[in-house]
Amino acid sequence: MSPASIQTIRPARNICGSLRLPGDKSISHRYAMLAAIADGETKLTNFSTGADCASTLVCLRELGVGWERKENSVSIQGRGLALEAPGRPLDCGNSGSTMRMLSGILAGQPFTSELAGDDSLSRRPMARVAAPLRMMGAQIDMGTNDRPPLRITGGRLKAIDYKMPVASAQVKSAVLFAGLFATGETRVEEPVHTRDHGEIALRAFGAQVNVHGKGASMAGGQRLSAIEAQVPGDLSSAAFFLCAAGLFPESELIMSGALMNPTRARLLDVLIAMGMKISVTQLEELHGELVGTVRAQGDDLKGAVIAGAETAALIDEIPVLAAIAPCSRDGVEIRDAAELRVKESDRIAAIASNLRRMGAKVEERQDGLKIPGGQTLHGAEIDSQGDHRIAMAFAVAALRAHGETAIMGADAAAISYPGFFATLESVAQR
Ligand code: S3P
Repeated sequence: MSPASIQTIRPARNICGSLRLPGDKSISHRYAMLAAIADGETKLTNFSTGADCASTLVCLRELGVGWERKENSVSIQGRGLALEAPGRPLDCGNSGSTMRMLSGILAGQPFTSELAGDDSLSRRPMARVAAPLRMMGAQIDMGTNDRPPLRITGGRLKAIDYKMPVASAQVKSAVLFAGLFATGETRVEEPVHTRDHGEIALRAFGAQVNVHGKGASMAGGQRLSAIEAQVPGDLSSAAFFLCAAGLFPESELIMSGALMNPTRARLLDVLIAMGMKISVTQLEELHGELVGTVRAQGDDLKGAVIAGAETAALIDEIPVLAAIAPCSRDGVEIRDAAELRVKESDRIAAIASNLRRMGAKVEERQDGLKIPGGQTLHGAEIDSQGDHRIAMAFAVAALRAHGETAIMGADAAAISYPGFFATLESVAQR
């Protein structure tokens, strides 16, 4: 393992300071994809610096989309709905968002494209996105057990009224993106409400999208217009610092420009219920997305039970919440989280095994975890399993452990947050 992929984390006294967050991953993907099929040149600032969003840009270039990137600013030349047939398979890297959401756009293109990914992505389920796109008229072949690679032959699509069996914002966005190329009104309904960045981004690019109850609908044939936008700070990245602050009663943290979309901000409610003091000021709206300044103070954390729709709303924040759970007073129970088993790693197993390495007791269930509170962690060797959120979650837990912790495979953090370890060091007081 190269030195860059091992990070040593020493215990901290508290978390203090202010920081700016990298651009939100979910919004960056969607803005880039819609910019590619819009009319005109889109200019984005604070675009996610993570490898996942870079994968989206690489795929778009292969599809004939011109773009130029300077640090975290990107300008993208829209092709007005028509992409170019790629000369080779599209490499989605580690990014499930790239593969699933781009599929929606490729389903509407009159050519064949193949989407492939790394070992982790090659194990992730794709039938959830292939099923509705086939119903709309795309031809889709998958690998064994409906895993990648995907081979999509797109063309003229017809609108569908689709009840999603799995709560997935990626699938919802893919179907709506495909709906742009369909004849008629495409409707999606989800079992529980998931993040609505797809709907908001489509509107930002000028499409008319109707939102009703647990669903959204949109007429086909609409054209998109380029935008100039700043991507809000990633709240799932902020989650690591919020949970780190929660570990120490003396912590005081300020994060400006943070995404405050209610479909993403559930962690704030959970941490407040657990005892943290969190306030949000300077709220403003950027292209339909709420952004604000978050101020958080630590406290002795109580416990939490996360279940049902709340689990879906918190899906990306569960690893870090679970990683700090042993240090809470009453522990954390997570239910209805089977989806965590098919993320970048089997996150339920990865959380349980790494917490045990740190000396904690954990009950692992098929669809969740029960982590008692009032436990003491010790430094350990953590296996990130190549999963960015596992690497970062356990760097946070390590701040409250006795002794040093080595995060093995720490470079995985760059999937969503290349500067994570440096930023963590800058706010960890010793
Ligand atoms: C995402 C949706 C979630 C989330 C992922 C990003 C999105 O995945 O876990 O990190 O941007 O729509 P699912 O759609 O698989 O739930």
